Amino acid sequence: MARVALVTGGSRGIGEAISKALQAAGYTVAATYAGNDDAAAKFTEETGIKTYKWNVADYDSSVAGIAKVEEDLGPVDVVVANAGITRDAPFHKMTKDQWQQVIDTNLTGVFNTVHPVWPGMRERKFGRVIVISSINGQKGQFAQVNYAATKAGDLGIVKSLAQEGARAGITANAICPGYIATEMVMAVPEKVRESIIGQIPAGRLGEPEEIARCVVFLASEDAGFINGSTISANGAQFFA
Ligand code: CAA
Repeated sequence: MARVALVTGGSRGIGEAISKALQAAGYTVAATYAGNDDAAAKFTEETGIKTYKWNVADYDSSVAGIAKVEEDLGPVDVVVANAGITRDAPFHKMTKDQWQQVIDTNLTGVFNTVHPVWPGMRERKFGRVIVISSINGQKGQFAQVNYAATKAGDLGIVKSLAQEGARAGITANAICPGYIATEMVMAVPEKVRESIIGQIPAGRLGEPEEIARCVVFLASEDAGFINGSTISANGAQFFA
C-alpha cells in the first residue's frame, strides 16, 4: 500500500510543489491549508490531492485534523512541516503580535504537526519527519528576528528528534531553501528583491520543484541513514 504523506501548507507555494512531487513518487498525499479556500479547491481539482483546513498554530485543531486524515487515508508515514508565515519588520518596529504570530505558526506549528504522528511512527518503526526551515534561519535576516528565530529553531528540533527516533526507524531532517520564486518572496519590495537576487551566485531565485525534489529524496527508504541533517538549497548564497 502507498505510504501516506502529510504536507502542511501543502496547497500553495513550496508546499504545493512538495505535495505534487510526493504524489508523483507514489505517496497518498494530504495537504493542509489555513485560509485560502479558493486556492485549495483549485489545487484539489487539478491534482486530486485531498486538502484539510486547520490552523497549525492550534494544537487541538492539529490533533483533530490529523485524526481525520488518518481515518480517511491511513497512518501518516511522512510528515512535511512546511506551513509558515512572515511578519517582517526591523526589530525596533516589530510588535509583540508580529513576534508571537510567527512563533506560533512557524515554530509551535512544527510541534503541533509532528507530535500527534510521532507515537504511530514509533509503533510502526518507520517515519520521515521533514521540516522546511530557511536560509534565514542559518544566516539571520534584516527585519526577520521573529522568522529567523523559528527557522533556526527548526534545526534544533530535527537534531533532537533524530536522536530520539533513530532506533525506531524514524528520521528527522531539515531543508533550508534559499530565496524561492513564491508569493512569500514576491511580497518583498521589488528593489529589495532585486538586491537579494544580486547576492545569489546562481543569479536567480530557486524554483519550488527544486525543494520538492529534496523532500522526495529524504522521504525515501534510500535516505534512511540521513538523520538530523540539513540540506541547503540556495544557489550558493550561503554555506552553513
Ligand atoms: N540590510 C540593511 N539595511 C536594510 C535592509 C537590509 N537587508 N533592508 C532595509 N534596510 C534599511 C533600509 O535601507 C532603511 O534604511 P534607511 O532608514 O537608512 O533608509 C531601513 O533599513 C528600513 O527602514 P524602513 O522604515 O523603510 O523599514 P520598514 O519598516 O518600511 O520595513 C522592510 C521595510 C520590512 C524591512 C522591507 O524592506 C522588507 O520587507 N525587506 C525584506 C526582508 C526580507 O528579506 N524578508 C525575507 C522574506 S522571504 C522569506 O522569508 C522566505 C525565506 O525563507 C527566504
